[in-house]
Amino acid sequence: MFEHLEKYAGDPIFGLNEAFHRDMHPQKVNLTVGLYYDNEGHIPVLASVKTAEQRRAQDPQSRPYLPMEGLASYRDAVQKLVFGASHKVLQDKKVATIQSVGGTGALKVGADFLHLAYPDSDVWISDPAWDNHHSIFQGAGVKSHSYSYYDPETKSLKFDQMLAEISALPPNSFVLLHPCCHNPTGVDLSQDQWLQLLPILAERQLIPFLDMAYQGFGAGLDEDAFAVRAMADAGLTFLVANSFSKNLSFYGERCGGLSVVCSSADEADGVLGQLKAVVRRIYSSPPMHGGQITSDVLNDTQLCAVWEQEVADMRQRIAFVRKQAHQQLTAKVPGYDSSYFVKQRGMFTYTGLSRAQLMALREHHGVYIIDSGRISVPGLNTRNLEYFTDAMADVLGLG
Ligand code: LMR
Repeated sequence: MFEHLEKYAGDPIFGLNEAFHRDMHPQKVNLTVGLYYDNEGHIPVLASVKTAEQRRAQDPQSRPYLPMEGLASYRDAVQKLVFGASHKVLQDKKVATIQSVGGTGALKVGADFLHLAYPDSDVWISDPAWDNHHSIFQGAGVKSHSYSYYDPETKSLKFDQMLAEISALPPNSFVLLHPCCHNPTGVDLSQDQWLQLLPILAERQLIPFLDMAYQGFGAGLDEDAFAVRAMADAGLTFLVANSFSKNLSFYGERCGGLSVVCSSADEADGVLGQLKAVVRRIYSSPPMHGGQITSDVLNDTQLCAVWEQEVADMRQRIAFVRKQAHQQLTAKVPGYDSSYFVKQRGMFTYTGLSRAQLMALREHHGVYIIDSGRISVPGLNTRNLEYFTDAMADVLGLG
């Protein structure tokens, strides 16, 4: 019955992670999936999460279905985190927010919703992109295209070209943007560049969809939400997906949020209804446990302060490793410009390594980097950094 189906080629990120785990190399280094590892190479259980888990474990409660839109206290916490506690769009009740199954689930529900609202519209996604962005929209029946974003020559943003291309899009097109920690390049728009882009999005009547999977890993929890809040200030209608996978170290719990900023409370109410209908068609309602723990951490003043410090610690460790990698490579490979390590921000850095270099790193050194040359920086630590930079020095001559 199913023999006619093509074999799945595997996911370029998760597939290589699986290959890493099969490799027996004693010094192997995993720089594939966007997962935060601590300096010991472990995915941390945050102290704030542990306390919330312990409290819940002392008094287990029954588990009815959550509402389709998720836990009310969770949705409230998402709104405050994403928009800032006292933002006017929240006071005016212009935002429809649901608890989603991770950031990916938020993108899927958002894509289905957009296709329902504008069946003839296409989506434009940065080049390069997180591969799954194209797949998610295509899976929702939306044609996907690319806009210029990253210049491999200068390892920086092609801002003028990006603006020109976005300015030429048909009205009601969807534009996928990363407010912070661009995946895969680590190259973000500056605040000034966001402020230049916003009027174009508004004038062209485009529908921005912001994917914020790494809030807190760039410059800070509030700083990373600059684009979201500027867009809300400017009165745009847009969508924002957020995720607790990275900043709560909560990957497997699949906790995220989807918020749609509308022009009135009434419109937001109607949108929430449609989001619920989309959710009901896919998975009925989100899971409870992760939602409760997330809500417990974010809604308890003390736990939230502990969590904010934990996010700052993760961010600072990434920045430290970036600096160290740059220094070591500068010393070991004179003439090689590794400044991208410190110029780019967040979880990822985009190396521009060639296929031959990536394969040599994998086969000779057990250093796993996905085919685009994107490194997930927190896979590096003070114990494997010398090994990694030695391996880089070894392969850089390959061209
Ligand atoms: C990544 O890009 O590595 C992460 O966002 C994990 C994923 O789902 O691909």
